[in-house]
Amino acid sequence: MRVRVPAKINLHLGVGESRADGYHELLTVFQAVDLHDEVTATAAADLSLAIEGAETGGVPDDSDNLAWRAAELLGDEYGVPPRAALRIRKSIPVAGGMAGGSADAAATLLACSVLWGLDLPRPELALLAAELGSDVAFALTGGTALGTGRGEQLTPALATGQFHWVLALADFGLSTADAYRELDRQRAAGTADDPLGPPDALLDALRAGDAVRVAAELGNDLQPAALALAPQLRATLRAGTELGALAAIVSGSGPTCAFLVADGGAATALAAALAGEGVCRTTRVTAGPVPGARVSS
Ligand code: C5P
Repeated sequence: MRVRVPAKINLHLGVGESRADGYHELLTVFQAVDLHDEVTATAAADLSLAIEGAETGGVPDDSDNLAWRAAELLGDEYGVPPRAALRIRKSIPVAGGMAGGSADAAATLLACSVLWGLDLPRPELALLAAELGSDVAFALTGGTALGTGRGEQLTPALATGQFHWVLALADFGLSTADAYRELDRQRAAGTADDPLGPPDALLDALRAGDAVRVAAELGNDLQPAALALAPQLRATLRAGTELGALAAIVSGSGPTCAFLVADGGAATALAAALAGEGVCRTTRVTAGPVPGARVSS
């Protein structure tokens, strides 16, 4: 059973108060983009995990991996022994702010649900996804969506046409928890930027399919925290803007930077130019929205 699952970009990441459970109240707009991990689940005597592909650095192949926990949670909830050989082929950058670990967990839920003959409807998978992490439910759904709560409560958002992105991948990772902690520190010290307002203008621009207006409305409350943890990202963002991107933004908690451009040709040109600037490990051309986790064989 093979499942393809996309990465996400937060077009808007509004971070509210921190809650008693340690999470922050979010108002976010996710977009799934055409950069996929692939999870294969095969019948086996017990649970195992192998990681392969281009982006594997530091990914655990045991119960520390959210995909492993997804298989165990699904088995527990439905009274099925969690027997599967899981193989994750990674293309989504690790600890990159693109929800790669969450994507793998979402894909594992879907793959094991089918492998074990549960064939759960999407809403039941979404409940388990929300238990596993803030971004797991969106990886199942894909498309473009408004996320509230800690990001797991989703409402689909209309986006017309395709939006073209260039991604600058870093040669290091950032911890999501560290980025939120740094934002809390900046807010407590009174040095944080004002929080973003609601994303109404962004949602309008998405409906209209207007990349220039979308570019003007991108925003990320975590960006100053990511830049404090990794100041070299300023040069990456600046290079993309100087090379003609419509907008430059840190993706989620970083360190991946995302550049919105007008079309596929502009994306190819910007990716090549950025690669020559020495401000990132590598670049990827991508587009969104794309569907969420799907069985591919
Ligand atoms: O839910 P997930 O495991 O992806 O979150 C990773 C960490 O990011 C959490 O442990 C928390 O520190 C932080 N986080 C947060 N508020 C959110 C989502 C994540 O503080 N809404």
